[in-house]
Amino acid sequence: MLLLNASGCLDALIAPDTARQLDGFVTKTVTPLPREGNPPVRIAETEVGMLNSIGLANPGRDRFLAETLPRLRELGLPLWVSVGGFSAQDYAETCALLEDVTVELNLSCPNVDEAPEPAAEIVAACREATELPLYAKLSPAAWDIGEVARAVEAAGADGLSLVNTIRGLALDARTLQPVLGCAVGGYSGPALRPIALAAVFACRRVTDLPIVGMGGVSTGRDALDLVAAGATAVALGTVCFSDPDAPARVRAELAAELRDRGYASADDACGVGHASQVELESSAAKSPAK
Ligand SMILES: Cc1cc2nc3c(=O)[nH]c(=O)nc-3n(C[C@H](O)[C@H](O)[C@H](O)COP(=O)(O)O)c2cc1C
Repeated sequence: MLLLNASGCLDALIAPDTARQLDGFVTKTVTPLPREGNPPVRIAETEVGMLNSIGLANPGRDRFLAETLPRLRELGLPLWVSVGGFSAQDYAETCALLEDVTVELNLSCPNVDEAPEPAAEIVAACREATELPLYAKLSPAAWDIGEVARAVEAAGADGLSLVNTIRGLALDARTLQPVLGCAVGGYSGPALRPIALAAVFACRRVTDLPIVGMGGVSTGRDALDLVAAGATAVALGTVCFSDPDAPARVRAELAAELRDRGYASADDACGVGHASQVELESSAAKSPAK
């Protein structure tokens, strides 16, 4: 099972030792033009998670391709490039310029205006533009995320990344005004875990695509839960800000959790969380209709 970082939560050029603990490095989302991001304050801590309104700050596609990507290649890790944009054409044009990477389409940033096209249309445009593996990163805010998963699969996605942050707000205790400059930000960390689990669980019920599970993972047990729900890979986000050894630690803890439960590998545990539901459904199907 692959252990990755979550996009935007680790700078491999600043923390190469953390990045080398991973099976692949996922870049910060890159957009066609450079972006300074949103006004400060852009990060706020809450009791059980973190709010950010970074707003996809990045050097833009041209500088990314000319400067950042060659330096990242020196790490010797498989690279995943997170691609963002404000129209299907933006996404597709960036995909067409990439080589020898996995592409993660950020279809779900809560901190910037969305492209007008639905996720499946963006995936279809990118599918035409590249033969590289395409992962669609979805928002947990979708009412029926299984439906979105089916649509992006039909449009040509090779995998799903689940989930991005969800919108949240923190008010200053004294002024009762929003802490973040943009008021609302993306909520990540421990509180996102049950939401991420539900999203992975729902998508695994409707598709066999590989799924990168993420959202609040900080221990091997958290990773095991995502695997049991159906994730084939796990990504670490907010935990990387507080623990530079998180990838190695979570990997070791996951191995111990698997061993204690008698699984030879994470692949053996993938999707086991669905067993009771499958049993219920098959006994419901066998019982005579009332
Ligand atoms: C500071 C910060 C920046 C992020 N930037 C991006 C980004 O550029 N692209 C993206 O797809 N997700 C971004 N995310 C979302 C993470 O990749 C991940 O989906 C989310 O934080 C849930 O995982 P976690 O709870 O383990 O952090 C960002 C998250 C944080 C906290």
